[in-house]
Amino acid sequence: SKKLSSTVQEAPLISDVAYELADIDWDSLGFALMPTDFMYIMKCSHGQTFSKGELQRYGNIELSPSAGVLNYGQGLFEGLKAYRKQDGNILLFRPEENALRMRMGAERMCMPSPTIEQFVDAVTATVLANKRWVPPPGKGSLYIRPLLMGSGAVLGLAPAPEYTFLIYVSPVGNYFKEGIAPIHLMIDTEVHRATPGGTGGVKTIGNYASVLKAQTAAKAKGFTDVLYLDCVHKKYLEEVSSCNVFVVKGNVISTPSIKGTILPGITRKSIIDVARSQGFQVEERLVAVDELLDADEVFCSGTAVVISPVGSITYHGERISYRNGGIGVVSQQLYSALTRLQMGLTEDKMDWLLEL
Ligand code: COI
Repeated sequence: SKKLSSTVQEAPLISDVAYELADIDWDSLGFALMPTDFMYIMKCSHGQTFSKGELQRYGNIELSPSAGVLNYGQGLFEGLKAYRKQDGNILLFRPEENALRMRMGAERMCMPSPTIEQFVDAVTATVLANKRWVPPPGKGSLYIRPLLMGSGAVLGLAPAPEYTFLIYVSPVGNYFKEGIAPIHLMIDTEVHRATPGGTGGVKTIGNYASVLKAQTAAKAKGFTDVLYLDCVHKKYLEEVSSCNVFVVKGNVISTPSIKGTILPGITRKSIIDVARSQGFQVEERLVAVDELLDADEVFCSGTAVVISPVGSITYHGERISYRNGGIGVVSQQLYSALTRLQMGLTEDKMDWLLEL
């Protein structure tokens, strides 16, 4: 291609960059499983450490009917994303944070876990083996789902004798059907997601099955999802079924502090840093449900969800609306700052990206 001038370097055109892509409709990705080429599997016995894993063709796995994970829910999962850069390279966002969180959760669930290095190497190998499934820039991302489970057989309640670490991937677009349009939440005053001393603060599979009933009921009433309150006072915000929550009032952004019942979201943590770097005051504290009444804006955050503006929250039948149901300016600003960083469009000052 010709130079614009001798001093200005022409940016490579997307058509100049050659990379192989799977033959699918990249414009219609939602958040549904699309099987890809390979998965990663690594096993170890109870009391041992993981040593060597391998890539296998993606497909069903064989499990004993009495596997610990199937009978007693001894399982954890993670979620992270890979984005395609303009130059065709692939970016992973803070994978070592997922590795650390899996180690913390494994300790709580009595499971061995891969080291940080094993985890990141396995994620990297899985993404590279499936690279034709990483969407082109601006079309979505490759969602990476690591699992850790008690795969060995048990009958009485005990830690399983064998563990399986598995990673599969799927290209995804927006999580909520609303896309980046505001979602509508309801507060369920009866159902709680987590209890003090329980497992709300780790990414165990049971935390997600236990909210399905409340989520299904909310959807049947036309809401997008449920916002849960703490189970002791029934007064403080906790989180939404699949994401953390933030409340904006003027220049102050507040979010429930991590105290055992809140999932320590990596997107949550990243937004706190991004917002502070943009001059917002961010408070991690108890956020009372009453504060929703005079908030300017509310948004949710998560790896799958990214940042989702909240258009309304219904509490005891009263609907509280934000920004007239439109996308809040703060949500929009943080969404754009975070996703531009994840896609490699702004300088990675915090050293959050791993380029493959
Ligand atoms: C994620 O955001 O990655 C999660 O793990 C939430 C899940 C319910 C999709």
